[in-house]
Amino acid sequence: MTNTLIFALLIALIAAVSVMADWESPWYYHGLDGPEFTNSTVDNGVEVRAYGSNLWASTNVEGNQLNVALNVGFERLFAYISGANALNTSIPMTTPVLAYVQPGAGPNCNSTFTVSFFVPYEYQTTDGPPKPTSEDVFIESIGPLNVAVSEFDGYAVQTEIIAKTVELEKEVESSSDIQLDTSEDVVDTWWFAGYDPPFRLNNRHNEVWAPVVTKN
Ligand SMILES: *[C@@H]1O[C@H](CO)[C@@H](O)[C@H](O)[C@H]1NC(C)=O
Ligand SMILES: *[C@@H]1O[C@H](CO)[C@@H](O)[C@H](O)[C@H]1NC(C)=O
Ligand SMILES: *[C@@H]1O[C@H](CO)[C@@H](O)[C@H](O)[C@H]1NC(C)=O
Repeated sequence: MTNTLIFALLIALIAAVSVMADWESPWYYHGLDGPEFTNSTVDNGVEVRAYGSNLWASTNVEGNQLNVALNVGFERLFAYISGANALNTSIPMTTPVLAYVQPGAGPNCNSTFTVSFFVPYEYQTTDGPPKPTSEDVFIESIGPLNVAVSEFDGYAVQTEIIAKTVELEKEVESSSDIQLDTSEDVVDTWWFAGYDPPFRLNNRHNEVWAPVVTKN
């Protein structure tokens, strides 16, 4: 290799590393590992984010109560990071706790809630994190994701979470820049992201996400 080429590669490497180092996690990550994103605001003020592809530890819960599903999912995933894995090792807690909601067809049908913990950076590798011992927990790659975001504080309960999602979807529909993603695999789905343990009383942070695409 010529010196010029080596020099160019070096510059590219430094640029790549500094882009990563430049990402400052938002205050509501409280210093924990969590997914990086880039964000912007569209014409009518709605925040949109782009997440890359990341590994998450996930579990599926059927039912019609998001809070119940979150509790059940949290317990399974907490057992996994507390040692219920191939290495019996303790895996650091991350943020957020994510719930991907796939509504069932028909009014009385259950939804599928996929509850997920972000896999810490040290395990965001080809090998991934230690294998879960429970059949209910699996490691999956989520993203890239393009979502519209609505943020709110306090203790999130299902009625408020659903109201925020409906409101967000209406806002997306009134934008000239983006529209809801109606691809078959994601139509009518949405996400809830909770950033706080139950014992954090103040400065709680919650989000709902709606999958979006750019309007052309
Ligand atoms: C991007 O996200 C950060 C962290 O949530 C927030 O402080 C900032 O206001 C957001 N920017 C836009 C344009 O929405
Ligand atoms: C909905 O989920 C609950 C909890 O998992 C289950 O007990 C119930 O049988 C399900 N109902 C339907 C209609 O599938
Ligand atoms: C993990 O813990 C279980 C139960 O305590 C034990 O049977 C198993 O041998 C341990 N595995 C490793 C890899 O330490």
